[in-house]
Amino acid sequence: MKVMVVGGGGREHAIIKKIKESPKVDKIYALPGNGGIAKDAECVDIKATDLEAIVDFAKKNAIEFAVVAPDDPLVMGLVDMLKAEGIPCFGPDKKAAIIEGSKAFSKELMKKYGIPTAKYETFTDMNEALEYLKTCDMPIVVKADGLALGKGVIIAETLEEAEKAVKSMMEDKVFGESGSCVVIEEFLTGPEVSVLSFTDGNTLIPMVSSMDHKRALDGDKGLNTGGMGTVAPNPYYTKEVADRCAEEIFLPTMAAMNKEGRSFSGCLYFGLMITDDGPKVIEYNCRFGDPETQVVLPLLESDLFDIMVHVSEGTLDEADVRFSDDSACCVVMASKGYPVSYEKGYPINIPDYVNNVYVAGAKLDENGKLVTSGGRVLGVTETAKTLQEAVAAAYRSVGEIFFENSFYRRDIGQRALKALEE
Ligand code: AMP
Ligand code: GLY
Repeated sequence: MKVMVVGGGGREHAIIKKIKESPKVDKIYALPGNGGIAKDAECVDIKATDLEAIVDFAKKNAIEFAVVAPDDPLVMGLVDMLKAEGIPCFGPDKKAAIIEGSKAFSKELMKKYGIPTAKYETFTDMNEALEYLKTCDMPIVVKADGLALGKGVIIAETLEEAEKAVKSMMEDKVFGESGSCVVIEEFLTGPEVSVLSFTDGNTLIPMVSSMDHKRALDGDKGLNTGGMGTVAPNPYYTKEVADRCAEEIFLPTMAAMNKEGRSFSGCLYFGLMITDDGPKVIEYNCRFGDPETQVVLPLLESDLFDIMVHVSEGTLDEADVRFSDDSACCVVMASKGYPVSYEKGYPINIPDYVNNVYVAGAKLDENGKLVTSGGRVLGVTETAKTLQEAVAAAYRSVGEIFFENSFYRRDIGQRALKALEE
């Protein structure tokens, strides 16, 4: 089959490498892909948000199946447009993608259906938001309603900080229209777990759990980023926690979306916090996480493409979904200065014997040489029998790779390893 994958980061590289293993896939196009993906798929220079151009390309090239990976095109309705042309897709339609596209929507959904999450209030009027803050205990969490590249969440330690956050979103519009509505919510504590799941609206199958490392610097210091590394499985996601999540969160969410007439088909991502009161939802994403995908898919033993087709056809209950018992670790190598500002264009040296590298922010220069082009440059993943071995192997591989101006966290997996010792 001729397949098209929309997106061009490390997550898309991991998806592409996995579906390439399927005997049913003959040809993969990546829109736009990147310099590393170019080794595994034919890259086409069309932006993931240029919906008209994507549909046009799919029609002209007789694409038989589309995987839409990033949040923007999903929330904008690319799946609806492709399906209207008769092209089967993996990914939710616009109506369902709102579960990530609007935090006000997802919070309201959880309240209505009794799905555990932080207590909150929603505001479209800045003065009301500022008045409400005066009644809150600190710290407090201020979130922009819409998509903000994972940066629209501010944890304020003091009333002043909280007021500044509300003003920056609602008055100065630092996140554009995403901030015209804000959610102010209770600050929760506890370890975080990411659970990606396959669902067709009738069946929901959780994938192996994972742990993201969102802050830029060691010891969870520095700014929030898109994610500096991941491990899987997440030791805080015990069998008992998993059972509670399935019963109190996963299945109720699927049912709630069906009841709302917004049946979700694709990868539904649960960002969870394991509090003293039990697991609670921090956020939903309507797609595979990045860099969670880079540790979850290498542990998938069955055929990803086959699963995706089953999801799109509504027959997930018949799919073979199996994960290995091994562990995985992904260390993100970034450009120094990320997530604020950084230089680009440095040549990247990856020895041939380092196989499991997912390329995120790199392009091919005029000589066909891979050079840095983004903040997060590479996701270096290794799998092994134990988490300890996987972490050691990932860092060994990182040590074999070189580009100028690189930086990475040295402590990916340390919190998980500590939890295993406890
Ligand atoms: P989000 O984009 O909603 O995942 O938020 C980004 C990060 O902010 C999360 O991964 C958490 O670490 C943190 N966060 C979000 N909401 C809360 C909350 N209610 N309490 C504590 N931390 C939170
Ligand atoms: N790694 C978090 C996300 O993809 O949103």
